Amino acid sequence: MLYSRYGERFARPSGILELMDDLGEALAVGKDLCMLGGGNPATVPALAAAFHELGQRLVSDPSAWQRCLGDYSSPRGESVFLTHLAAALREHCGFDVGQANLVLTVGSQASFFALFKLLGGICAGGQMRPVVLPRLPDYLGYAELGSGEADALVGVPAFPEVTAAGRFRYAIDWQALENIADMAALCVSNPGNPSGQLLASADLDRLHDLAQARDVPLIVDAAYGAPFPGICFGTAEDSRPWWRADSVLCLSLSKLGLPGVRAGVVVAPEELAAALTAFNASLTLAPGNLGPNLLRPWLEDGALLDVGRRWLLPFYAERRQAALGIVDEVFAARGIDCRIHESGGAFFLWLWFPRLARPAREVYGLLKEAGVLVVPGEHFSPGLASPPSHLAQCLRVSFAGEPARFALGIERMAAVLARLMSKSTAATTACQGDGI
Ligand SMILES: Cc1ncc(COP(=O)(O)O)c(C=O)c1O
Repeated sequence: MLYSRYGERFARPSGILELMDDLGEALAVGKDLCMLGGGNPATVPALAAAFHELGQRLVSDPSAWQRCLGDYSSPRGESVFLTHLAAALREHCGFDVGQANLVLTVGSQASFFALFKLLGGICAGGQMRPVVLPRLPDYLGYAELGSGEADALVGVPAFPEVTAAGRFRYAIDWQALENIADMAALCVSNPGNPSGQLLASADLDRLHDLAQARDVPLIVDAAYGAPFPGICFGTAEDSRPWWRADSVLCLSLSKLGLPGVRAGVVVAPEELAAALTAFNASLTLAPGNLGPNLLRPWLEDGALLDVGRRWLLPFYAERRQAALGIVDEVFAARGIDCRIHESGGAFFLWLWFPRLARPAREVYGLLKEAGVLVVPGEHFSPGLASPPSHLAQCLRVSFAGEPARFALGIERMAAVLARLMSKSTAATTACQGDGI
């Protein structure tokens, strides 16, 4: 098949395709795979029961059910949901927003597709203005979303800094960011995927200052963050919902436990929200109705903005604690030097093996053969021509699943990795203190 240049970009294999294929494979019957890859949320029993009850309520009201299935919404999304959501964001988060600031999409992935296409690339004056990712590693799903030109997406590697024995944290390379003269937007996931990094609110404010100085929006991808699903383990200050009138906040129902309904929410300046609405009309006609209709009662009584605190945070905090203990213990027992990124949110541990003697991409294949799925670090370098060497020493594991399966997966990993560790310290020193 002869594809267009634009088409080739989407038809070829990609990190996100591999990851989603792995998810499907892991769910296939009869496979003994420990699924530590993918971004599937956990099934939180009490929350799953509450969703079931909401579903029954919706189905048992014939006219509401018929409207949900039988009508297109407007391209901006289901308007009653949007009215309630705007009110809830004003009341609970202090955002100065109305319906005109909100747009629903068919999931955050679609929100980023639209935003990156609308903003990044060659603009009317003929100059290239990239979307800049200010803290790599970042979400692999951004990788294919540049505008077709290779430099429409620019990633800025961060510095890995050791914070304690077996722990590290990325520091933003402010100098490199300041040096980028022309840009279309800044975009960062917070909490970060893959690192789990929760940016200090001072860092978010500094990114916002930088965006303002360039007269471009800061896009905050809160797929795991505040106000929902609110999977943030940091201080109250850093875990607070963050939005400014000239910025964009991307939310999603997926990590609440509803990835199947495919619903994303964008909070944006009115002009950009109108452009996204127009984009929606071309791409999907209208976003889906199921998510908004299912959750409408929880917007009317404000429960949606409390789901994180009430259900998700206690659940994931417990799994995180168990996961940290398992990783520390199992790798130490094998004498494997493993550093975990400070986990401030989301449901991943981001592991750095400074002595790993084979690239993570190859290690991924060996681990799959050994019955454990992870995501190799190289994928998390969107906006770079080739992944930095530090990322070839990193693997992302999800702790959303059952702790016993997580423990088995880490045991399998340790057995494979123990054979792949270099005895020299060269690999370690090469990355210390440098941008990744
Ligand atoms: C950081 C981040 N952003 C966006 C998405 C896309 O989520 P969805 O399209 O399911 O809303 C994901 C999914 O895993 C993610 O991890």
